[in-house]
Amino acid sequence: MAKQLPCVFATCIILFFLGVAAEDEPAIKVTIQKIEIISVNKEYVQEEHVALFQYNATHQAINASGRLMKDLGMQLDDNADIYTIEDGAPHLLTSAKDIHICDILSGDYPELEQLFKFGNFTKCPMKAGFYAGVNAIVDTSSVPASVPRGEFIIDVKTSNGPTEILHTKTFLKIEDVPVKKAK
Ligand SMILES: *[C@@H]1O[C@H](CO)[C@@H](O)[C@H](O)[C@H]1NC(C)=O
Ligand SMILES: *[C@@H]1O[C@H](CO)[C@@H](O)[C@H](O)[C@H]1NC(C)=O
Ligand SMILES: *[C@@H]1O[C@H](CO)[C@@H](O)[C@H](O)[C@H]1NC(C)=O
Repeated sequence: MAKQLPCVFATCIILFFLGVAAEDEPAIKVTIQKIEIISVNKEYVQEEHVALFQYNATHQAINASGRLMKDLGMQLDDNADIYTIEDGAPHLLTSAKDIHICDILSGDYPELEQLFKFGNFTKCPMKAGFYAGVNAIVDTSSVPASVPRGEFIIDVKTSNGPTEILHTKTFLKIEDVPVKKAK
């Protein structure tokens, strides 16, 4: 998942942050509509592939793979812009600058440990090589019910030091689940 891996990671990390204040009230439905690889720096990443699919009736999953062409250092950062889509046009909602991926990966987050089970990607420093993640279940159960509803674009640029290596956009839809009447 070299190339893609940071892509998928970035998205998962954002979801993770959204979900930190988890409440166990699954009254919302989060759907990933698509994941686009906007650009890759071929000096760093090749053979990138990402597939989003419906895993079962309730869950989506992601297959992602790619070849990392160079060893990476500890200076792996994400810059993320989150847009809402209103009247068909994206409007910038918020930005998160210089998210230090290596710090997050080395932190003690059970949700991230779960992610590692789906593939052979590693914590920092990541070494050159081919990485693959298969049937990575998208778990949105910890996204708090207080998040806004609507359609969003998470635009993430991943850099190794000063060099951009990957740019992805993830399209999300967050909606209410119709409430079942209590008997
Ligand atoms: C779909 O798969 C997930 C992960 O294995 C599981 O938690 C969930 O219960 C499954 N849903 C259905 C409807 O089988
Ligand atoms: C990761 O797994 C893939 C596919 O199973 C394999 O081709 C690749 O060599 C593995 N990479 C590393 C760094 O272990
Ligand atoms: C995901 O990867 C698994 C294992 O390689 C494969 O069986 C499955 O067809 C893939 N799904 C998609 C949608 O590419």
